[in-house]
Amino acid sequence: MNRWEFDGPLHTERLELRLMTPDDVAAVHSWMSDPDVVRYQLYEPRSLEVVTEKVAEYGQARVLADKGDYVQPAIVLDGEVIGAVYFTIASADDETGEIGWVLRREHWGRGYAREAAARMLDVAFDEVGLHRVYAELDPRNEASVALCRRLGMRHEAHFVEHMWFKGEWADTGIYGILAREWRA
Ligand SMILES: CC(C)(COP(=O)(O)OP(=O)(O)OC[C@H]1O[C@@H](n2cnc3c(N)ncnc32)[C@H](O)[C@@H]1OP(=O)(O)O)[C@@H](O)C(=O)NCCC(=O)NCCS
Repeated sequence: MNRWEFDGPLHTERLELRLMTPDDVAAVHSWMSDPDVVRYQLYEPRSLEVVTEKVAEYGQARVLADKGDYVQPAIVLDGEVIGAVYFTIASADDETGEIGWVLRREHWGRGYAREAAARMLDVAFDEVGLHRVYAELDPRNEASVALCRRLGMRHEAHFVEHMWFKGEWADTGIYGILAREWRA
């Protein structure tokens, strides 16, 4: 794999993906504090104070080279931040990345997550040179499962009561795609 740096906005037909800045705190807070949006995320709704710290961290994360490196660009529609894509190097040795996504609730159902994730997968396979990308999700998260399928990701695993999550045992689903499958 290659060392890759987020050194300018990425564009799709309708969207821009760019690193977050402190000006994005209010927009990010609007989804990170929304119980419906964070239902299947690992965190509980977040305060403005916590979101301010997180956005500062996300804005600094720009290199993908080693295990644990991540980027979390904002998804921008007509100048408005509507969500984010998360991408991290899960294993440099195995050239594997993990992808995640979130949109503000009022922007669900228009294909924006698919469009942003597809651009990130282009980067992952064509520029970072990864072999495989996976997504890990709660199988009850139907919108996220459907998005994996629309991206051509394969259902590879279902772990039963795999984690203690928000007061109950929850299952985990794994969806994956290889570079050659993405290109096809
Ligand atoms: C997961 C999540 C990002 C999916 O968002 P989404 O808007 O459903 O996904 P997409 O952007 O791919 O949009 C697909 C929908 O847009 C519709 N659509 C409308 N116009 C479209 C277009 N031009 N292109 C593609 N799809 C379009 C599709 O038909 C589909 O709707 P449907 O599900 O009713 O069939 C969103 O539900 C979310 O933010 N959830 C909370 C955060 C979360 O749980 N993240 C995942 C943690 S693992």
